[in-house]
Amino acid sequence: MVSYKDLGLVNTREMFAKAIKGGYAIPAFNFNNMEQLQAIIKAAAEEKSPVILQVSKGARNYANATLLRYMAEGAVEYAKELGWEHPQIVLHLDHGDSFELCKDCVDNGFSSVMIDGSHLPYEENVELTKKVCEYAHKYDVTVEGELGVLAGVEDEVSSDHHTYTDPEEVVDFVTRTGVDSLAISIGTSHGAYKFTPEQCTRDPKTGRLVPPPLAFDVLEGVEAKIPGFPIVLHGSSSVPQEYVDIINENGGKLPNAIGIPEEELRKAAKMDVCKINIDSDSRLAMTAAVRKVFNEKPAEFDPRKYLGPARDEMEKLYKHKIINVLGSDGKAE
Ligand code: G3H
Ligand code: 13P
Ligand code: ZN
Repeated sequence: MVSYKDLGLVNTREMFAKAIKGGYAIPAFNFNNMEQLQAIIKAAAEEKSPVILQVSKGARNYANATLLRYMAEGAVEYAKELGWEHPQIVLHLDHGDSFELCKDCVDNGFSSVMIDGSHLPYEENVELTKKVCEYAHKYDVTVEGELGVLAGVEDEVSSDHHTYTDPEEVVDFVTRTGVDSLAISIGTSHGAYKFTPEQCTRDPKTGRLVPPPLAFDVLEGVEAKIPGFPIVLHGSSSVPQEYVDIINENGGKLPNAIGIPEEELRKAAKMDVCKINIDSDSRLAMTAAVRKVFNEKPAEFDPRKYLGPARDEMEKLYKHKIINVLGSDGKAE
């Protein structure tokens, strides 16, 4: 058993409570490799922002679970070296799909886990989430559950299709499971294609796609049922068009990629949304920077010469999110 406390990590309980009171959200950035981790820690340390290092099942398979744990431990030390005296860093399992995976993470230094039973029938979701909470809480590890299914691009973004979270279910779910935070579905989705062009309108001046708004009425409905309870938004990349353009101008092909406008995320962060998940934007920043180097300097073959600019671009992106979207800068002095 490796306790996260021995690695210098913290769970989400206190940081979520503060975020809700303070009207900001904690960034949850996914990482799979050293450059992403360096950029996340540098941004968080320099901006003194609490941060959630998010690891998916795929990331664990890609990078190796043991190595990732030591990387997180190293991240705490790196943060201190950067002058962040009391780093507030969470190591979180993203989209855990079984009790066994969540248990393995609790046993191996994670301070927070998500059990994603959102695709299961309601009662099975309750049962599985409760089982994970009972185990994780013995070790003071916090648990995120999910209710409602995130819309895929193939779905209509409409509550008529029952993809949004049903506010009528949330009290029963959080009470019976004992979950510490709840991911909900209000129109966000994973990846760089969050809406089809048919679901969007077009800005007449720029010709760019304009996405339909998030379902703030659903968020308000949830908040009315469980006021002050920590809410999580997945699928919250904004798919910056400047990165899409750089990728497309340098040999890539991402037609009609579109995300969630940052103003909407800022609005959600001021409400009871206290964790905002961002992965795709970092992938886009990295890809744009690497493609640009490859295109402009075809003779370059030192990975530091293309991963270095990628790391710088990600750090810029993370700082922008922390300061201008989540409002978490200066909240972990
Ligand atoms: O929600 C999914 C995250 O973006 C992680 O993606 O499973 O490809 O690592 P992944
Ligand atoms: P994006 O694909 O919008 O970055 O969402 C990431 C996410 O929700 C990770 O769980
Ligand atoms: Zn997600």
